[in-house]
Amino acid sequence: MPTKPYVIDEMISAKSIAARVEDLCREITEEFAATDKLIVVGLLRGSFVFIADLVRELDLPIEVDFLEASSYGDGMQSSREVRILKDLRGAIEGRDVLVVEDIVDTGHTLHHVMSLLRSRNPARLKSIALLDKPDRREVDMKADWTGFEIPDEFVVGYGIDFAQRNRNLPFIGKVRFT
Ligand code: IMP
Ligand code: MG
Repeated sequence: MPTKPYVIDEMISAKSIAARVEDLCREITEEFAATDKLIVVGLLRGSFVFIADLVRELDLPIEVDFLEASSYGDGMQSSREVRILKDLRGAIEGRDVLVVEDIVDTGHTLHHVMSLLRSRNPARLKSIALLDKPDRREVDMKADWTGFEIPDEFVVGYGIDFAQRNRNLPFIGKVRFT
C-alpha cells in the first residue's frame, strides 16, 4: 500500500487509449496477416488491461500466453536486475511472437525479455508497449510499436499500478503527492 497521500491527474483519457489501440491493431493485423502461428505474450501484471483490449481488436488467429518479470517491487524505482518470476506455458520455437508491455522506462525489462525469447528461436519476435518514457532510457531499446510517448512522470491506471493500487482506473493518470 502506498504510504504518502497522493492524487491522480488524468494524462491520457480512456477514449484516446481506445482510439490508439484501434490504430495499432490495424497495423499489427496487417503485419501478421499471413501467419496462423502468432502468440501474443503479455508481461504481467501491468499489461493485463492493454493485452485484453489488443487481442479483441486483432483480426487474426492467435494464442495468448503470459510471462512475469520482476520490476519495481512496491516502490517507484526501477531495479536494473531483471528476474523471470513466471515463465511462458508454451514453447515458441518457430512461432511468431508479439510481446506486450505496459511501459518501457529504463528499458531493462523489455531488453531482458526480448533477449531471453530470442534465444528460444521464434520465427518472428516483435514487441508493443502502451507507453514509452524515452527520457529515462538506460539501455538501447525501443518497442516495434508504441502507444504514447510520455514525459518522465510516474503514471498509473489501465493496468499500471503504484504499489499495487490504481490498476483498475480506465485512463492513464500521473501521480502527484499532496
Ligand atoms: P524498465 O525495466 O525500467 O523499462 O521498467 C519497466 C517496468 O517498470 C514497467 O513494466 C512497469 O511495470 C514499471 N514502470 C515503469 N514506469 C512506471 C510508472 O510510471 N508507473 C508504474 N510502473 C512503472
Ligand atoms: Mg511491468
